[in-house]
Amino acid sequence: MDRPSRRNVLVAGGTLGAVGALGAASPAQAAALWTWSPKGSVAGAGEGADPRGVWDPEADRLVASLLDRGEVPKVNRLLRTWTKNGQPLPAGLPADLRDFMERARRLPSWADRGKLATAVDFNEKRGLYLGVTYGFASGMMSTVIPREARAVYYSKGGADMRDRITKTAKLGYDIGTSNAYRPDGEMVVTCVKTRLAHAGVRHLLPRSAHWSKVADERVPISQADMMVTWHSLPTTVMQNLVKWKVPIPAAESEAFLHSWQVAAHMLGIRDEYIPRSWEEANAQAKQVLDPILAPTPEGIKLADMLLNLGSTIDGGILSKPILGSLTRYVLGDEIADWLKIRRDPLWDPVFETAWEPFIAVREGLLSLEKAPGALQKAYWAFDEILRLGALLVLSEGDLPISIEIPVTNNPN
Ligand code: HEM
Repeated sequence: MDRPSRRNVLVAGGTLGAVGALGAASPAQAAALWTWSPKGSVAGAGEGADPRGVWDPEADRLVASLLDRGEVPKVNRLLRTWTKNGQPLPAGLPADLRDFMERARRLPSWADRGKLATAVDFNEKRGLYLGVTYGFASGMMSTVIPREARAVYYSKGGADMRDRITKTAKLGYDIGTSNAYRPDGEMVVTCVKTRLAHAGVRHLLPRSAHWSKVADERVPISQADMMVTWHSLPTTVMQNLVKWKVPIPAAESEAFLHSWQVAAHMLGIRDEYIPRSWEEANAQAKQVLDPILAPTPEGIKLADMLLNLGSTIDGGILSKPILGSLTRYVLGDEIADWLKIRRDPLWDPVFETAWEPFIAVREGLLSLEKAPGALQKAYWAFDEILRLGALLVLSEGDLPISIEIPVTNNPN
């Protein structure tokens, strides 16, 4: 698969995971003191400033200036041709942007090629589980992350959710490819373009009357917001794989973390906020992610859309109640109730009793005959859920995906 398109990105299972980078709105953000120490970061040191008051000043100034100079449409057009990590930047870019991008595309000095190669093994071996966890742990969790949803809802992407999900899916797809960070891969390009898109959002959203009415911050997408979304992805995924007792060698677990640490850096997150270990990641997530989860009208709508994805894509094999029960199982009763997911007397107990044995059977740790009776009946459905990523095919066909700097907010 050489050119990611709507179709093959979705088939690769990135779609639902990508929704992990979408969010939902809620009135309250907890305002506890920032106490996480930069000693636990990949940098090992730092000022320790509260990331809720830190954005991405260099990118933000640059993109604001490009927008003010009316150069963004031209830049977007030129950048459509820039797709591979090792490819030279296209001719004709404004000099200040070129200069920034040349620096922004460099991997951090601490990027470890060996670990990135091990991450590839992990992604290949665990691709099926990653689709489900990105989708029904990260994706569903994102519907109860307030600030991101407001940003998404009132920015340009909010006007076309499907397009946005597809574009965001590209990042989930790219990070799992075998050449993700290598010169012939696309993850660096995707991250740098996303960093620019976020900078555009920071300039534009404060000008949206709709957003300003509901927002609880002056400028969106702070470093803290970035970490919240980051934790809804790798941290949450790994927590679930561990909970489900998927056997993962320590080196692969560390490598998966590393591939996301590099992604965080490339997205403009400061090294002093990027956790250096799973232990630190879990501690930081407790501080930034757990307390801010809350229901909102937008999140409820988004969750409903996700639950319908299964049944619209595979012709109803996986009906909404099954995916609803999966969500309840993965995220717990409180979040499922927030999202107005109905309790299902048939499937809720099946997940409780049979999901972990199902994983054990798939992993060759338990024979199906010895598994609980509920699993004999549910095996087909569970297997379908794992394959959902491979069933996701959107109708628009094989258009190439290009992440762009927005020039407007959602007009609606
Ligand atoms: C755009 C990923 C954090 C809000 C994007 C895009 C990607 C992405 C791939 C490009 C897709 C597109 O153009 O539609 C991520 C990742 C994050 C993250 C991996 C963290 C690790 C956040 C946060 C917010 C946010 C914290 C808000 C609080 C947005 C918005 C857009 C966007 C509003 C632009 C949509 C438009 O074009 O209007 N993000 N994001 N993102 N992201 Fe993020």
